[in-house]
Amino acid sequence: MPTTLFSPLQLGSITLNNRIVMAPLTRSRAGDGNVPHALNALYYAQRASAGLIIAEATQVTPEGQGYITTPGIHSDEQTAGWKAVTDAVHANGGRIFLQLWHVGRISHTSFQPHAAAPVAPSAIQAEGKTYTRDGFVPLSKPRALDTDEIPSIVAAYAQATRNALEAGFDGVEVHAANGYLIDQFLRDKTNHRTDQYGGSFENRSRFLLAVVDAVTTVAGASRVGVRISPQNAFNDISDSQPQALFNHVAEQLAPRKLAYLHVIEGDMSGAPAAPFDYAAIKQLFGGLYMANNGYDKARASAALAEGRADLVAFGKPFIANPDLVTRFLLDAPLNPLQAATLYGGSHPGYTDYPLLQSTAAA
Ligand code: PHB
Repeated sequence: MPTTLFSPLQLGSITLNNRIVMAPLTRSRAGDGNVPHALNALYYAQRASAGLIIAEATQVTPEGQGYITTPGIHSDEQTAGWKAVTDAVHANGGRIFLQLWHVGRISHTSFQPHAAAPVAPSAIQAEGKTYTRDGFVPLSKPRALDTDEIPSIVAAYAQATRNALEAGFDGVEVHAANGYLIDQFLRDKTNHRTDQYGGSFENRSRFLLAVVDAVTTVAGASRVGVRISPQNAFNDISDSQPQALFNHVAEQLAPRKLAYLHVIEGDMSGAPAAPFDYAAIKQLFGGLYMANNGYDKARASAALAEGRADLVAFGKPFIANPDLVTRFLLDAPLNPLQAATLYGGSHPGYTDYPLLQSTAAA
């Protein structure tokens, strides 16, 4: 029997009902104090038929925030808020990991404690804007982290993992993609450091591996995934040797026997990317490979059948189709995405996308 999207999968000690993963998706709908609330629990519970939900990027420290009303996992209130989310997903038979996030330089002083500069490997300002209480504003110029500050950020990931487990998550995903802090250390456009965290591939990977080791010490390797995006230019980032860099990263992660490696293949905008050997990344990592970026049912099924992926993550289709698994099973049409309601607000465009039955009845 070829592997299909509907083949179950053992992920460490948990069994996934299928290979259809809900990708982490920023929706900017946390409550006061960046605390998840009942609306968020409903949204995730509606999508619990995914084999695995990776909950949205969630800041591990106040400094790790870069956008308005994104949830955190550093306070007791946030941990309690997430508990209601995981309870709702588990009650519906789902599995849920939390994505651990620090935005680094992709931030604005208005999000930072004492309106300080955001932190980054190097003091290089990103091109781009973020949405604040005052609307869109240019990203702030960051300051370079001192070498001796880095262990405290690693410790914050460990504490966030403790909180995530207390909140009932089945595991965590370390967000090392998309131009955020860990990716800023990995890639040479944003890392100009001359200490042990800059220069060689080994040095630029040091922060990622320290975070992964701290997080796995808390959760156990089988409950930890890592997300990378070797070619994604989102957030003004690039590397001069992406294949060699990410081959090195995959090789270093391999012996750590993690739950999975989640790879955004190509550029998130859909812009054409240079040739890149993702099969090499999969082979060097050696564990479960989660493919992501613009997959539909046909491409995902082919990737699984041909052994190019073990799981496939879907983003926009899951926003618009809470019952995406059923729709894939029946080859039913998908609801279109409403772009205007992606970020912020309440129920509209969040928890009111129709199910197949209600679509058919309408
Ligand atoms: C976003 O908020 O646009 C965002 C957040 C996390 C990502 C990518 C995009 O990994």
